[in-house]
Amino acid sequence: MNVDFYERIWMWFAGAVIAVFIGTIAVTSFAFAIRPPSHAETIDPTKVMQDPRFATPGVEVRPDGTVHVTVTAMMFTFLPSEIHVPRGRPVTFRVTSMDATHGFEIAGTNANTMVIPGYVSQFTYTFDRPGEYLIVCNEYCGMGHHAMQGKVVVE
Ligand code: CUA
Repeated sequence: MNVDFYERIWMWFAGAVIAVFIGTIAVTSFAFAIRPPSHAETIDPTKVMQDPRFATPGVEVRPDGTVHVTVTAMMFTFLPSEIHVPRGRPVTFRVTSMDATHGFEIAGTNANTMVIPGYVSQFTYTFDRPGEYLIVCNEYCGMGHHAMQGKVVVE
């Protein structure tokens, strides 16, 4: 089969672009551990306060030493808005929304998730340095979006 010279260049170019894309996905998922959330858990957004999983938001240290933080996001605050966690231990955050879609980003870390009504977002993060970390809502959720914040105090 006779393939024109320029046609051949473009075929190799397209193949190289595809290889770069697949390589990028491989590097980010295996080397940088950036992957889509694997936790899919639903909740009735109209009954968050009555749901036993979110009835008492806050920090809980389980008998096995693991730290669990339950947070409810709503217009325009996080409940609780100040979270105290220990340093150097894995902290599992569980966040849900009662109204609109919010964001839950702990500034200065790569802890960041969307908070979608009807779903429970969960991730685990270990704070290595003590200090105060700002929690910001990074999804536009209404008139008070810019004021929606909280803080994590690592002790
Ligand atoms: Cu909540 Cu923006």
